[in-house]
Amino acid sequence: MTEAKKLFVKTYGCQMNVYDSQRMQDVLAPLGYQSVDSAEGADMVILNTCHIREKAAEKVFSDLGRVRKHKEAKEASGGDKMIVAVAGCVAQAEGAELMKREPMVDMVFGPQTYHRLPEMVARANRAVGRNRIVDTDFPAEEKFDHLPEQVSKQGYSAFLAIQEGCDKFCTFCVVPYTRGAEYSRPGADVIREAKQLVAQGTRELTLLGQNVNAYHGEAPNGGEWTLGRLLRELAEIDGLDRIRYTTSHPRDVDEDLISAHRDIKKLMPFLHLPVQAGGDRVLQAMNRKHTNADYRDIAKRLKDACPDLALSSDFIVGFPGESDKDFEDTMEIVRDITFIQAFSFKYSPRPGTPASAMELQVPEKVKTERIMRLQALLAEQQLTFNQNSVGKEMDVLLERHGKYEGQLVGKSPYMQPVHVSGLPESALGQIVRLKITEALPNSLGGELVDATQSDQKSERNVA
Ligand code: 5AD
Ligand code: SF4
Repeated sequence: MTEAKKLFVKTYGCQMNVYDSQRMQDVLAPLGYQSVDSAEGADMVILNTCHIREKAAEKVFSDLGRVRKHKEAKEASGGDKMIVAVAGCVAQAEGAELMKREPMVDMVFGPQTYHRLPEMVARANRAVGRNRIVDTDFPAEEKFDHLPEQVSKQGYSAFLAIQEGCDKFCTFCVVPYTRGAEYSRPGADVIREAKQLVAQGTRELTLLGQNVNAYHGEAPNGGEWTLGRLLRELAEIDGLDRIRYTTSHPRDVDEDLISAHRDIKKLMPFLHLPVQAGGDRVLQAMNRKHTNADYRDIAKRLKDACPDLALSSDFIVGFPGESDKDFEDTMEIVRDITFIQAFSFKYSPRPGTPASAMELQVPEKVKTERIMRLQALLAEQQLTFNQNSVGKEMDVLLERHGKYEGQLVGKSPYMQPVHVSGLPESALGQIVRLKITEALPNSLGGELVDATQSDQKSERNVA
């Protein structure tokens, strides 16, 4: 084994980046890199970045300023050099420019090339001169085929990427440009990785993809698996008790997936299904390929199949051309469907996307007014859902220690953090049945229903 080197990875943005950061650590571990939780004194710093909105992208540049100070301090004190790398979607979108703007960055690589990190690190570490590396190709070979077969141990709840990229080209979104065309991993690879994680203690899996329900992976015996089929296969894995998937597109919710929600107990009754906006003109200009009525219909079919299913969504307000009436349509669909959690954003024009060149950009002031109204409504719906949980029983996967002595925190089927006191340390990793006694805007409190019922296999949630 090579001498240990310190690796600091900072992750921005979505869960796919969280997964990628873990895989980067898996790729670098055989080279002796061990993760640390600060850039100070690190041998390598990777910022795994997000380009989805301007704010996220700008944050990287302010963080790079701090990293520069650590790099200078380390090298001034006679230490080895610090390799500074920018990865992820900002790297993909702005690679060459980033190198120009930030001379101390040694390495820039996109989401499709991090399996080549060992080669990049060797080049950057060459004794003579300084090698600055940019690798933002969309290589013909598949990244997933070149990542280490063994995944490192994750928590009781882990991510598993099954699909990457997007062919939808919503007009506001950079993802099709930064993550490339849609690609689904073969079913056998997904099952193998899931079994490895479960063997290492994982009980809950969240399947990831930018357009996860467009999944169409090669089946082990020829043909293709849909997401519905893959979920059925995964549900057969002993020791895997909870399955989730994100992020879905309404257009790709098919009958197979709807029936998976009816049939598979391990599939949690909580679905992130972004609608983005309620106005049909806006949805069309966004190239969402669905109408307000389509979304309502899909939500209804899902809830008919699984009556305790709850939805969360993403929203964009102030998309170019969004009128007062369009925005009221957004408010109305929220009132009618009710979302128990949501992310809402002011439209942020992104370089190279069609919407950034559209006329009728909405003034900032109007965006602010609209988002405040929308967020107030969404917060109210979330709080109401949490308050309605009080008095009910829920199965909670205990994942970590809480802020207070003797407190553990877990997750409900609906992703609500639930606090409980008085359980032993050994309850971590168990699914326990809790009676909900307290509701806050973003979390719940509960108490054990009956010790003999603890760690039951994830029965459907709310009694
Ligand atoms: N402006 C604002 N929000 C955006 N999103 C994606 N692109 C933009 C943009 N240009 C939001 C969408 C998406 C979420 C991940 O980010 O709501 O679902
Ligand atoms: Fe972006 Fe639309 Fe693809 Fe989602 S479906 S990643 S919003 S282009």
